[in-house]
Amino acid sequence: MPTDPNPLRIAVLGAGQMGAGMAQVVADAGHTVVSWDVRPDALAKLDARIRTTTHLNEAVVGADLVLEAIAEDLAIKQEVYRRISALNATCIVASNTSSLPAEQLAAALEPASRFAIAHFFNPAAVVPLVEIVPAPQTSPETLQKLKEVMERAGKLPVVLNRAVPGFVANRLQAALYREAYALAAEGVASPQDIDLVVRAGLGSRWAAAGPMMVTDLGGMDIWKAVTGQLFPLLAADRTTPQAIEEAVRRGDLGSKTGRGIYEHDPEEDQRVKDRMAAHFKLEFGQ
Ligand SMILES: NC(=O)c1ccc[n+]([C@@H]2O[C@H](COP(=O)([O-])OP(=O)(O)OC[C@H]3O[C@@H](n4cnc5c(N)ncnc54)[C@H](O)[C@@H]3O)[C@@H](O)[C@H]2O)c1
Repeated sequence: MPTDPNPLRIAVLGAGQMGAGMAQVVADAGHTVVSWDVRPDALAKLDARIRTTTHLNEAVVGADLVLEAIAEDLAIKQEVYRRISALNATCIVASNTSSLPAEQLAAALEPASRFAIAHFFNPAAVVPLVEIVPAPQTSPETLQKLKEVMERAGKLPVVLNRAVPGFVANRLQAALYREAYALAAEGVASPQDIDLVVRAGLGSRWAAAGPMMVTDLGGMDIWKAVTGQLFPLLAADRTTPQAIEEAVRRGDLGSKTGRGIYEHDPEEDQRVKDRMAAHFKLEFGQ
């Protein structure tokens, strides 16, 4: 793991699924990390290099950078940013929000120019991608500094030109999910075979090249024909797939309840996660 030549004092707010991984990433990069959460049991799971506190001031006063990964709730995040504004006038504040509007988050921080979104992916210590997304108020210096810190921590940051709901990754993912669930619902192929189509073909190809490069390699003339034929026929549902709605109604939430599309056992799930980690290591060496 690379070590940042300019170690910072970094406060990671929230020690849940994402915050714990994000704290590990910046601790591995040699930064001094303090993690804040309201739940001592969440803090207790962090590794020993990470200082922990349930008092926001102990994490934020003197911090150079705050990485925020608390509950996905606008009012809760804004309240924390107001408290940060009173405790530290200069630190960059980066939110891991998946869906909240950047402009409204930034508005709760004074000055708002030091706010941006740094969107990690689960598991944060494994997936190299971090989407860095500006609010309209974000300064270029804030974006540049965040990008540098992420690169030096071994991440592959992508800086978006502006915020759109879902950023880039979740929009691409949602587009594929819409079609995958429609094909399963229409009985064209089983969910297991749809997964195999992606794993054995599309996903591995995209992992190596990305969809834009794949169109170039295939030939624009081919993709003109394919997109022209298929776009009018693709699913255009505007609501959550029925199969997901019904699974949630039954309480079948996937891995965390033991049943979703698949039946789960923890050992098999771990093998899938290990496969993912091995793939990222092979592709990006981390
Ligand atoms: N889970 C994912 O796959 C994922 C991926 C990308 C981004 N995110 C985003 O990351 C953020 C955190 O998600 P998560 O999955 O880690 O959630 P989580 O529920 O696992 O963790 C949230 C943590 O924040 C703490 N917290 C909640 N409210 C708080 C408050 N008012 N003050 C202090 N601590 C508080 C909780 O005690 C908990 O430990 C959210 O904004 C989420 O949208 C999640």
